Amino acid sequence: MPDQRVADGVLSRMVATGTEELIFASDPDSGLQAIVVIDDTTLGPALGGVRMHPYSSEHEAMTAGLRLSHAMTMKAAAAGLDLGGATALVLASPDKEKSEALLTATGRVLSGLSDRFIAVNDVGTTSEDMLVLQRAGARICTRDPSSFTAEGVVESMKAIWKSIEASTSLKGVRVAVQGIGNVGERLVGLLATEGAVVTAADVDRRRAETVATKYGVMAVDAEELLDLECDILSPCAMGSVVTFESIRRLRCRAIVGAANNIVESPGVEDLLAKSGIVYAPDFVTNAGGLIGLENELLGNDDDEARRRVHEISGRVRAVLEETEHGGGTTIDAARRIALDRLRMHRVRRHT
Ligand code: NAI
Repeated sequence: MPDQRVADGVLSRMVATGTEELIFASDPDSGLQAIVVIDDTTLGPALGGVRMHPYSSEHEAMTAGLRLSHAMTMKAAAAGLDLGGATALVLASPDKEKSEALLTATGRVLSGLSDRFIAVNDVGTTSEDMLVLQRAGARICTRDPSSFTAEGVVESMKAIWKSIEASTSLKGVRVAVQGIGNVGERLVGLLATEGAVVTAADVDRRRAETVATKYGVMAVDAEELLDLECDILSPCAMGSVVTFESIRRLRCRAIVGAANNIVESPGVEDLLAKSGIVYAPDFVTNAGGLIGLENELLGNDDDEARRRVHEISGRVRAVLEETEHGGGTTIDAARRIALDRLRMHRVRRHT
């Protein structure tokens, strides 16, 4: 029995969210069930994570796809990149169902979209999986962009710290890093070099301790991190870290991280703005990885990527200025900047 809630009102939902294309794909031989969302190609071909996850319903997957692909559009627009936003969701468990046949079928679907969809690995997929997609005709990026992401987060911290203490030096600044994965580990290393006082936490306590020992910083239990008194909290694990519940625990002066959608909802955005904690919007601070990927597509060297990643501090400053002049939260201001750029390109495209 098809899920009626998915089919009903899909087009009007696309109109409301401004989504360009929504593609439902299935392949009975491999068992593929996938939803591809191309949110916007105004600025260029859309870059999208290929996520493999056992969503509990098609409706849940579609909602996640619309949100993720739009976030990618906003990130590219805010970072000044000539890329759009997309995502491909494969409704399967990566541990139990991932197979060469499933990935090849996904690649075949994306091959038909290769003029406007560029695939990168995301939750549940690896860069090796992307090579299977490529063999089936998909256009892909393979590079792990985590080091560029971490560098962009450090640049953002410097801009935010300057707005708080009139200094771009992170020496002695107390930074609590949540999630010591690909980005978190590199971030801890960079912050240690800057002389920041770093505390690291990961649900995998051993991992946090190993990295802490390597860089001479402290490690605490993951549950303790949000209660820690610090200058900057840096969520580098999952989204929705700042919620109506968790906001009461926070004892930081600023939040600057790599995770996507750090603030749970617009209501929490308002509360956070009123709390006096300075929030650097994640889609601005974590754009370093996307800059690195665009650099790969353009065939530029790493120095060029690094130069552009360093421009993120200026973009964070622009967000703070726009917040002061245009009002609302820092997230509202960053959205205005991104949407303005999209609007200008659309006007140019139609004239
Ligand atoms: P990852 O999967 O390598 O690392 C995440 C780490 O967080 C893992 O070590 C995990 O054990 C830990 N973790 C999960 N829940 C936690 C919790 N509640 N408390 C403490 N630790 C927890 O991921 P990666 O690549 O480092 O990315 C981190 C975040 O940044 C993700 O949300 C990702 O979507 C986002 N991001 C990553 C980019 C990149 O270049 N890798 C680019 C832009 C965003």
